[in-house]
Amino acid sequence: MGILFRNGTIITASEMVEADVLVEDETIKLIGRGISARGHEVVNCKGKYLLPGGIDVHTHLDLPFGGTYSNDDFDVGHKAAAFGGTTSHIDFVIQPKGGSLHDGLKTWREKAKPAQIDYGFHMAITDLRDDVMDEIPSLVDEGITSLKLFMAYKNVFQVDDRTLFRAMQVAAKHGMIVMVHAENGDVEEQLRLRLLAEGKTDPHWHYWSRPPEIEGEATNRAVVMAGLANCPLYVVHMTCEPAVEALRRGRALGYPVMGETCVQYFYVTYDKHLKAPGFEGAKFVCSPPIRHPHDHDVLWQAVREGTLQAVSTDHCDFWYEGGVGPWEEWAKQHNGGDWVEYEKQDPSYRRPGKELGKGNFAKIPNGLPGIEDRMIVMWHLGVNGGKISPQRFVELNCTNPAKIFGMYPKKGTIAVGADADIVIWDPNKRHTISARTHHMRCDYNLYEGLKVRGMPVRVYQRGKLLVDGDQWHGVNGGGQYIARKPHAPVL
Ligand code: URP
Ligand code: ZN
Ligand code: ZN
Repeated sequence: MGILFRNGTIITASEMVEADVLVEDETIKLIGRGISARGHEVVNCKGKYLLPGGIDVHTHLDLPFGGTYSNDDFDVGHKAAAFGGTTSHIDFVIQPKGGSLHDGLKTWREKAKPAQIDYGFHMAITDLRDDVMDEIPSLVDEGITSLKLFMAYKNVFQVDDRTLFRAMQVAAKHGMIVMVHAENGDVEEQLRLRLLAEGKTDPHWHYWSRPPEIEGEATNRAVVMAGLANCPLYVVHMTCEPAVEALRRGRALGYPVMGETCVQYFYVTYDKHLKAPGFEGAKFVCSPPIRHPHDHDVLWQAVREGTLQAVSTDHCDFWYEGGVGPWEEWAKQHNGGDWVEYEKQDPSYRRPGKELGKGNFAKIPNGLPGIEDRMIVMWHLGVNGGKISPQRFVELNCTNPAKIFGMYPKKGTIAVGADADIVIWDPNKRHTISARTHHMRCDYNLYEGLKVRGMPVRVYQRGKLLVDGDQWHGVNGGGQYIARKPHAPVL
């Protein structure tokens, strides 16, 4: 017995069409009108849209960072993602300093054991020794076909230009794509030290330590290197005009370069959010920093014209009011801390969060919640707001991420033979976004109070029901690893 999704309007990257969809054995078997319901469960989709499950290619679940760990893991974070219509994501494995890429992979495989949705891994290289260079090609056999390098976070993740360029050369040779966090970390360090020496310690000074110019400069450097190495490049979380201009120039020269932005960069602003009174601005500290309404316009133009190909979240959430409970003592006893176990003992206990940076903006853990909100906010601001068509919405949130990262057409579209990752989307359903009702393990929401129209009412992964209204139907460990293909197209 299959499932027949009847009378919905299918939205793909190229069309909107009213049709039935028959799902059997985890995949889409048939699309057409008037498909016989005999022997199948029928789901009435009249008045609803059928979208491919969302794909968020930029997340950091359970990431050790900024003196703590990001809150959401492959259990809670996955459920939150699914409630927002995201059924697949790619998380960043971090190579431990001094260790191998496979050491990092082992750690992330362990983290992913409770997976509730499908997931893949990028490999973030932090220590590119010769033995690590030799290790890179073996990642393709593991289904990891993207490398990430950080041009910022000096003395933590940052690599130098030689390392980045060598990584591009080896990636190009083996059909892999290089992703960069593009900010000039050396200049950032100098700006940050000067601000702190001047006593400028409030959260909003974070912005002034990472101005748009250093994002634009690093983006340009990465784009030029990718052109010289003939290596596909994907610039993550782009926020501003100098960066978009650098990418646009590279693309005009025919370089194989692409980029994403994240949903928060269309909404949150320096003046309203980061500069909020007291320590409130810490809720919005991420890198690159959130910008200005002018940059929102720049980004809408870039996603419309195709300079940017995808929208993700960079989901990496921390408590605003963390550090509740005797966590230091507990962490000492437990060798640095299995935070999830720790918090299970007493839910009022919390790992440290944004409060680590009270009195010093540089110590605020960088990162924001968003894995649950991406599709809903993008639909509301983008489609309802008249900025993008429903088809472009699907292309940015589902199809292009799958194509760029080697998962298409199994993921990212509604087509015969594709995985039956299907979101039933009610374009008229209204909702007010709030931390009180969201499913992320976070005590605030970037879009608190935003009244949206359009959201998932049911979410299926490979034909299995995950979400029905506010009910969770998924299974612990039901999410599958996505082994990705090399030689993804450049869009
Ligand atoms: O502030 C951010 N973006 N935190 C997560 C790590 C990264 O740079 O992507
Ligand atoms: Zn980053
Ligand atoms: Zn990130």
